[in-house]
Amino acid sequence: MVGKAHRRLKIAILGSGGRLGAALARAYADEHEVIGFDHAKLDIGSAGQIDQALAPCSFDVLINSAALTNVDYCETHEEEAVRINADAVRQIAEICARKNARCIHISTDYVFDGEKTSPYCEKDDAKPISVYGESKRRGEIELLGVSEKNLAVRVSWVFGPDRPSFIDAILKRALESDHAEAIGDKFSAPTYTLDVAELLRPFLRDISEGGLLHVCNTGECTWRDYGRFAIDCARAAGLPVRAQKVGSLKMAEMKAFVAKRPVYTVLATDKLARLTGKTPRSWQNAVEDYVANKVAPALR
Ligand SMILES: NC(=O)c1ccc[n+]([C@@H]2O[C@H](COP(=O)([O-])OP(=O)(O)OC[C@H]3O[C@@H](n4cnc5c(N)ncnc54)[C@H](OP(=O)(O)O)[C@@H]3O)[C@@H](O)[C@H]2O)c1
Repeated sequence: MVGKAHRRLKIAILGSGGRLGAALARAYADEHEVIGFDHAKLDIGSAGQIDQALAPCSFDVLINSAALTNVDYCETHEEEAVRINADAVRQIAEICARKNARCIHISTDYVFDGEKTSPYCEKDDAKPISVYGESKRRGEIELLGVSEKNLAVRVSWVFGPDRPSFIDAILKRALESDHAEAIGDKFSAPTYTLDVAELLRPFLRDISEGGLLHVCNTGECTWRDYGRFAIDCARAAGLPVRAQKVGSLKMAEMKAFVAKRPVYTVLATDKLARLTGKTPRSWQNAVEDYVANKVAPALR
């Protein structure tokens, strides 16, 4: 018997020029019709633009990966942070509700205060300690206030080939200088954008469950562990690494930080595993894959 062929979905992706949005857009285009909105095409800080761009557009699923992500900038630009990270989310979710479209919104581990010492699950209280974290938490509340069928996906320490992040900066440093350093007293889990795309794929159609969902690679580390491991991978991939050691910095010494950062924000992925039957691979496996297959070939 021939299986029933699935109709291609129309998926709108906001923030399609960003690190995660670009990876999602590319991944889902293999199976679905993707309509990408980058910042130049749609400024979600403008209610008028949101209506103009989305109201006439037809789609089955919308993924909002657009956000004001600079934690220190948000700290001194609260009105803008709330407009983009919370008010816009309500408006986008309301448009989705009128179209009967699934709304998947990307959120953050920074909704937590970092006081725990074991992984945060979706039921844990969100108590942000920065304007960024607060604006993102309000975005989740707005999203789920419109419909509990919507999905708020929290990720942490996002890395991937579409836009440089911490890992690319420390690798660059290790190639150019004999010394690299990173914060050794802040803990989370790196999240590979290509893994997020595959882990979220079932939620586009097959899994209709809404609410909060934690998605990240498994395990936990400090920024220093993360950097040190990435540098080891670069060396193993044959890149001419100069730095022999990664020095340890303390968060308290980071004078350039304007906003407070939570110390511990490892996300538990048990709910994801329960719903999908899949446990994300470890952060080490994901980093190794990224360095060997994306970073090294581009630098050789
Ligand atoms: N990066 C992390 O480590 C991390 C950690 C936890 C959660 N997250 C969440 O993950 C999501 C994706 O972030 P990312 O890592 O992909 O960062 P990103 O590359 O900064 O992506 C955010 C995108 O939003 C766009 N954007 C900013 N303001 C906008 C506006 N007013 N209208 C429309 N687009 C706007 C940015 O465009 P421009 O750059 O052109 O302005 C960028 O393309 C965000 O919701 C973020 O809060 C990220």
